[in-house]
Amino acid sequence: MRKINKSKRIQNPAFGISVLIILALLTLIISCKNDKPEPEGLTPYSISIPKGFPKMEIPDNNQPYEERVALGRRLYYDPILSNNGLSCSSCHWQKKGFTIPTTQGMPVLPHVNMAWKDIYMWDGREQGNLEDVMLFEVEEFFGTDISKLNKHPEYPELFAEAYNSNTITSHDVAKALAQFFRILISADSKYDRVMAGTESFSDKELKGYRIFSSEKSSCYHCHMPPLFTDSQLHNNGVDSTFENPENWGYFSTSRDSGQLSHMRTPTLRNLSLRNRFMHDGRYASIEEVVDFYNKGVNHSPSLDPVMVKSNGELRLGLTPEETEQLVAFLKTLTDSTFITNKSLSNPN
Ligand code: HEC
Ligand code: HEC
Repeated sequence: MRKINKSKRIQNPAFGISVLIILALLTLIISCKNDKPEPEGLTPYSISIPKGFPKMEIPDNNQPYEERVALGRRLYYDPILSNNGLSCSSCHWQKKGFTIPTTQGMPVLPHVNMAWKDIYMWDGREQGNLEDVMLFEVEEFFGTDISKLNKHPEYPELFAEAYNSNTITSHDVAKALAQFFRILISADSKYDRVMAGTESFSDKELKGYRIFSSEKSSCYHCHMPPLFTDSQLHNNGVDSTFENPENWGYFSTSRDSGQLSHMRTPTLRNLSLRNRFMHDGRYASIEEVVDFYNKGVNHSPSLDPVMVKSNGELRLGLTPEETEQLVAFLKTLTDSTFITNKSLSNPN
């Protein structure tokens, strides 16, 4: 019976062609959406964007819902993602602004206001949206064994609910993690409260803020408020020679010598919670960093032009008193609400 039907259809060319067109269109629609249908009955999660922050881009196929954020949060704290007992939170502690104190190697970057970045890691080698960088973390950094999640007593049901997935994939895990990363928003430091008019700077902090925002220091050009990073790549003059590949920055990816030592500008939010600074942790205090900008900037062909002052100098020429003021201002960027916010802590 079937066979006869099939041959009949093929005998009618117009029918055959329209079937082909419909199939092609369907494939196109499905591949564009690249996803299962949106599950029903989820609770929309409204992410509140702090005043003055840029718009947040969220992909259509990963809109925020309570169930997804909760799942991402649970995964962030769960060592099931790794093969060595570590969870994301093993190296990214909330009480330290989602980083950890270290004594050697590359300092751990903080997870803060990540939704506004599209260049990641000290040297900018990962790029794209949060879903893209999470997929890198899951597949390459952790090499997550997804079968463990599929065999887990609870995750299959949670993923089915949040993402309509029958079988959990690394893409589903990346999407759930991205949901949690979008709510890691820090915007309640003393600086923010001063800007909102509910608190005031001390005299010292105010002077430091003026130095930070001046052309003389140029800090604000790259560490642009309110995120305190422009999320772009720059050579701020930490090195003048580049034998060590650790110091190559984005050159490692692009092999363009104009990008030697280009690092992604780190945010200065919650700076005082970190113990080592710059991509190799060479400075151990904010004072040492300011001292570097004041008199240690190195010339090299790829140095950012912003680092060269109008008189051609690389030194800022801050007095010890001005240095203290700048440091005092940088310390107003610590957000104690963020690091104690219970909705970001370990739910397990
Ligand atoms: C063993 C410690 C460790 C663990 C565990 C860890 N990280 Fe990290 N993370 C780091 C270090 C170190 C960096 C900086 C690496 C670099 O720049 O090359 C970093 C950087 C990142 C960045 C880039 C941040 C930025 O501002 O560009 C993201 C995103 C990230 N981690 C996500 C995760 C996720 C998700 C997990 C869990 C799946 C995780 N990390 C687990 C140590 C860790
Ligand atoms: C041309 C862009 C640029 C300017 C101007 C600039 N910075 Fe930076 N800043 C960077 C980059 C890029 C890094 C990371 C460099 C690295 O890791 O080697 C950095 C790192 C830092 C760090 C270390 C952060 C961390 O988490 O390790 C601090 C603190 C800092 N800058 C403060 C300042 C201050 C204060 C000023 C003004 C005196 C300033 N910066 C001016 C681009 C800039």
